[in-house]
Amino acid sequence: MKNILITGGSGLVGKHLTAWLTQRGYQVAWLSRNPDKGSSIKTYFWDVEAEKLDPAAIEFSDAIVHLAGAGIADKPWSAKRKQEIVDSRVKSTELIINQLKRSGKLPEVVIAASAIGYYGTTTSSHVFTETDPPGTDFLATTTRLWEEATNKFRDLGIKTIQYRLGMVLDAKEGALPKMALPVKYGLGAALGTGRQFVPWIHIHDLCNLMVAGLEQNLPDGVYNAVAPDQNTNGELMKMIASVLHRPYFLPPVPGLIMKLIMGEMSALVLEGSAVSANKVLQTGFQFSFAELKVALENLLVVRP
Ligand SMILES: NC(=O)c1ccc[n+]([C@@H]2O[C@H](COP(=O)([O-])OP(=O)(O)OC[C@H]3O[C@@H](n4cnc5c(N)ncnc54)[C@H](OP(=O)(O)O)[C@@H]3O)[C@@H](O)[C@H]2O)c1
Repeated sequence: MKNILITGGSGLVGKHLTAWLTQRGYQVAWLSRNPDKGSSIKTYFWDVEAEKLDPAAIEFSDAIVHLAGAGIADKPWSAKRKQEIVDSRVKSTELIINQLKRSGKLPEVVIAASAIGYYGTTTSSHVFTETDPPGTDFLATTTRLWEEATNKFRDLGIKTIQYRLGMVLDAKEGALPKMALPVKYGLGAALGTGRQFVPWIHIHDLCNLMVAGLEQNLPDGVYNAVAPDQNTNGELMKMIASVLHRPYFLPPVPGLIMKLIMGEMSALVLEGSAVSANKVLQTGFQFSFAELKVALENLLVVRP
């Protein structure tokens, strides 16, 4: 297995994974809406809405890593945006599957992104495992439909590994820099009760886990991609302040204010339960950043 096609490769996870795989000697190509972005990576075109996908992308791929999807928190959740969030995941998957059926060339393995939003955005003392049923809110429904679509890779006889991602921690992109910004100015505070869990994974461990899915004998199936450490929003914000050596004294931002600002999307930051990393650990996978403090020190502390 040499050639890896990454959908949504230009995103946070895709860019890191591309570097990771290239260093290991793989040929990486992206499947993108914008093949002319000027990236040095070979890029094939697709247009999910118009149901167009360059067949050469399928001919290229020995494995597919399917990451594409409209950003969950990039824009307000209007009815149109919600549909885009669903379609960019479900219809994109269907488009790949239809193209695979047409071409007859099947990849050895598909790694498909999913999200812990599958379990529903609720705060409880339950620690969610892969066998728990899906929730019923918008994100849970989206994620369930997304997984149902990626299940169809299995119907073609392709080994399929679905990773339910927690919040991906990276130094430059994603949620962490946004959370760290007010803390840097001494304005860090928990959101809502601060007792909601924030399952997370360091980008380094996520790339390693995806490589394990490609290279190792990981059984076909669904895996939570979260660190073993289970932390609340309050702990996370306080830890960011501690790692950055900034004061942390403000009261939590009331949930009502977050709801007024973010509407339904506020559930993303106000609710959350713990998610288990046990299934991944049982495969023998070793996290480099199993604890939040170690992960934050690695990502936030600028070393000379
Ligand atoms: N980052 C996290 O914390 C996190 C947590 C849970 C789940 N996930 C999921 O994991 C996947 C990868 O995450 P990420 O952070 O790398 O995402 P990202 O940075 O938002 O990148 C996603 C990529 O998807 C493509 N895309 C965006 N809108 C699209 C649309 N309407 N139709 C088709 N493709 C579209 C874009 O690639 P092109 O512009 O090249 O087409 C984009 O670069 C996403 O599906 C995300 O939902 C991420």
